[in-house]
Amino acid sequence: MVFLLKRVRGNARWLLALLLLGLAGALIALALSWRPAIAPIAPPPARSFTSEQVARGAVLAKLGDCAVCHTRDAGRPLAGGRPLATPFGTLYSDNLTPDPETGIGRWSAAAFRRAMKDGVSRTGTHLYPALPYEHFTHVRDADLDALYAFLMTRRPVHEAAPANRLIFPLGFRPLLAGWKLLFLHHGETPMDPARSAEWNRGAYLVEGLGHCGGCHTPRNLAGGEIRSQVYAGGIAEGWRAPPLNAANPAARRWTQEALVTYLRTGISPDHSAAAGPMGPVVESLAQVPEGEVRAIAAYIVSKMGGAPSAPAAPLPDNADAAARRFPDGAVLFAGACAGCHGPGAPMMGQGRPLLSLATVLRDTEPTSAAQAVLQGIEPPVAGRGPKMPGFADALTDQQIAAVLGYLRARYTDRPDWRKLPAAVAKARKEGAQP
Ligand code: HEC
Ligand code: HEC
Ligand code: HEC
Repeated sequence: MVFLLKRVRGNARWLLALLLLGLAGALIALALSWRPAIAPIAPPPARSFTSEQVARGAVLAKLGDCAVCHTRDAGRPLAGGRPLATPFGTLYSDNLTPDPETGIGRWSAAAFRRAMKDGVSRTGTHLYPALPYEHFTHVRDADLDALYAFLMTRRPVHEAAPANRLIFPLGFRPLLAGWKLLFLHHGETPMDPARSAEWNRGAYLVEGLGHCGGCHTPRNLAGGEIRSQVYAGGIAEGWRAPPLNAANPAARRWTQEALVTYLRTGISPDHSAAAGPMGPVVESLAQVPEGEVRAIAAYIVSKMGGAPSAPAAPLPDNADAAARRFPDGAVLFAGACAGCHGPGAPMMGQGRPLLSLATVLRDTEPTSAAQAVLQGIEPPVAGRGPKMPGFADALTDQQIAAVLGYLRARYTDRPDWRKLPAAVAKARKEGAQP
């Protein structure tokens, strides 16, 4: 009896100890996730910023694509409210204009810096990494101050962002503190003194404001970038952002020149067009000084493995063999596509890239090829450049799969894509706007 009592008491003591430990753990976690609010300020007058700072900030805002995510309708730039589809639900971007109630009008420069580097809002709440602070954290303070100057001198727009719609329990923002412990790595981008100033500038821009890895690096299940696979190819809005490392599948190795052309015009005659989410990136880069884009290109080319190899291999065009293997695809191509892409089509006379140069057909996944056919291609730069209609309403998943199988067999020397109809169906679902 005494023995039994002792055991119960012993167990109770254990239980109590465990409970206390659990409680302490929860308190520590909450304390760690807690951030103070930064006091609101009276909106700073425009004359508190120099015009050089504002001009510099305008360029930096383009390099960081702020307006791409923070503008829902072009008439109210940077007023936020744009829905962003993520695997975890829909997020809405915030109002970045200096409106005191709904925007960042009452944010100090320190509050703005903290949001960009630590992903914490002025009020102390954690922000979702849809704001790419995994990259913005590397931006130098002087540049953040210029961005702040630019934003605080815009026209204020009174507009509150709609509430996010996230799957349970991700609406609980303190969880983001744990996410940041694992995936947010502070610190400046290391400079390499053995490389040119241009390359180092490119490294700073690509790893920081340009956040190219935000789309081109694969993510783990928790949505963090996989650091051992930087630039190995990722997913963006249902498109695939192809590898920008040695695994880049382009038929012709990228040179710095070709990249500059692509990043500033949306098309490279030796490669292909910038479609899907890459379009707005190009639209932004078309508006920054060329030297910045040259620097970005110098850095990216070095990631891809340097200079192009000796004589380029001949481009495949196995029309007959492909038509025998994919007769339905061949018929569809002749009817719906050859008017633009076939040999002798007027479009091809303007120095347009052959489909055998298109990266999307050579990629390991058919994702972006399917999206290009479903959604079409918008000219990214001020209505100039390539345009292709979307076929989402005109063709079924089965038909698009047939034509993609045919194109892969005809224009590349790569193995067939497998389970194409399922991949097209998935692309159709994930590419739908929220
Ligand atoms: C890929 C899309 C994307 C890009 C690019 C982007 N943002 Fe955001 N940003 C968001 C989203 C989404 C939120 C809201 C996050 C949340 O609700 O936690 C946000 C929130 C913010 C906030 C917090 C505002 C508040 O009221 O708490 C600031 C500040 C901000 N962004 C600044 C910028 C700046 C400056 C740039 C350009 C250098 C930029 N963002 C580029 C998506 C983006
Ligand atoms: C919002 C997501 C996103 C961001 C940010 C982004 N990209 Fe892309 N990128 C894509 C997608 C998607 C494609 C595929 C486009 C297509 O299929 O036409 C692409 C294609 C490319 C290509 C063509 C590769 C090839 O072989 O065809 C290059 C080069 C490129 N991106 C460079 C960059 C650079 C440099 C940056 C940063 C300044 C960047 N991207 C930022 C999504 C993104
Ligand atoms: C009205 C003309 C037009 C038609 C019709 C057309 N395309 Fe295109 N397509 C384009 C243009 C423009 C581009 C961008 C590259 C260029 O300018 O050559 C393009 C690019 C592509 C690409 C490369 C995409 C990328 O991101 O690099 C693929 C794949 C493609 N088209 C497939 C098709 C298929 C399949 C069809 C028929 C179902 C089709 N196209 C019909 C005009 C057209």
